[in-house]
Amino acid sequence: MQKLELTVSAIRAESPLIRSLQLCAASGDPLPAFSPGSHLQVHIPGLSDTRNYSLISFEPSERGFEAPQHYLLGVRLEESSSGGSRFMHGLAVGDRITVLGPKNDFPLHAPEPAEAPIVLIAGGIGITPIAAMANALQAAGRPWVLHYSGRSRDQLAFVAELAALGGAALHLHADDDPASRLDIGALLSALAPSQHLYVCGPKGMIDALIEGAKTRGWPADRIHFELFTTAKPVSGDQAFEVELRQSGKTLTVPANKTILEVLESEGCDPMYDCKRGECGVCTATVLEGTPDHRDYFLSEAEKASGKMIQICISRAKSARLVLDL
Ligand code: FES
Repeated sequence: MQKLELTVSAIRAESPLIRSLQLCAASGDPLPAFSPGSHLQVHIPGLSDTRNYSLISFEPSERGFEAPQHYLLGVRLEESSSGGSRFMHGLAVGDRITVLGPKNDFPLHAPEPAEAPIVLIAGGIGITPIAAMANALQAAGRPWVLHYSGRSRDQLAFVAELAALGGAALHLHADDDPASRLDIGALLSALAPSQHLYVCGPKGMIDALIEGAKTRGWPADRIHFELFTTAKPVSGDQAFEVELRQSGKTLTVPANKTILEVLESEGCDPMYDCKRGECGVCTATVLEGTPDHRDYFLSEAEKASGKMIQICISRAKSARLVLDL
């Protein structure tokens, strides 16, 4: 991935909690091309790892992806921010940031000409990669529909741009409005399992969509998703012990930390990438104990075997796990 020095060239409030940041090359040069679903890894001063923010484009042609004059990010201020969103919301026009990318872990496949509309589904700030996909599909003349859901209507960002882009293809949903609240089961029942689904949002939305789609006969290769957050504690999470058999260490993983975070804080150097249980890079072999699988990478059979675990997100059902690390 390339390292880029970018200058904040514009900032706009898109909702009470979401602001957009327009970024230009500090050198004034054109920016590297990106594909819909791509993100930037932003270096946050004082934090050891980067934060990912998806690239948006509302440019009316494919040039917005091929030769962007600027990048556009949407950032939600998180209540429990560990520093990333607070830093991004503290930036002013003229400030400089360092990023890596663009990188795409959520690519949009090239639809066949006669294919039924691609179904895009976004929850909250998950709209950012989905908006880029909508724009790319529109620019390519491919049919799409977008279901965009938030806690309330005023929490939805980029609505004017999306409406201008999609017209009747845009469906807005608000949790606090029974008339428009997104009903994933009803939505899926009205679609055909041959339609590609692209969803970005919170874990509950993604889990409901995967489950609902599987039940209705969707092939796995037509369900595409990206979580917009890394692992979050779930109510009832408990601390557990992890023994690293090769290193001879035994560590405690508290309820509010992942195995990966504990390993890093102890000076270990585990492999990882997405930190969302999607990429598979952090897979570890389980020698003893029962994993509590929370990832989207392992198959159902692999999860049932209990022999592997994604240490960036999964936890333990037993009081102790022994890993081959
Ligand atoms: S880092 Fe990607 S699955 Fe754990």
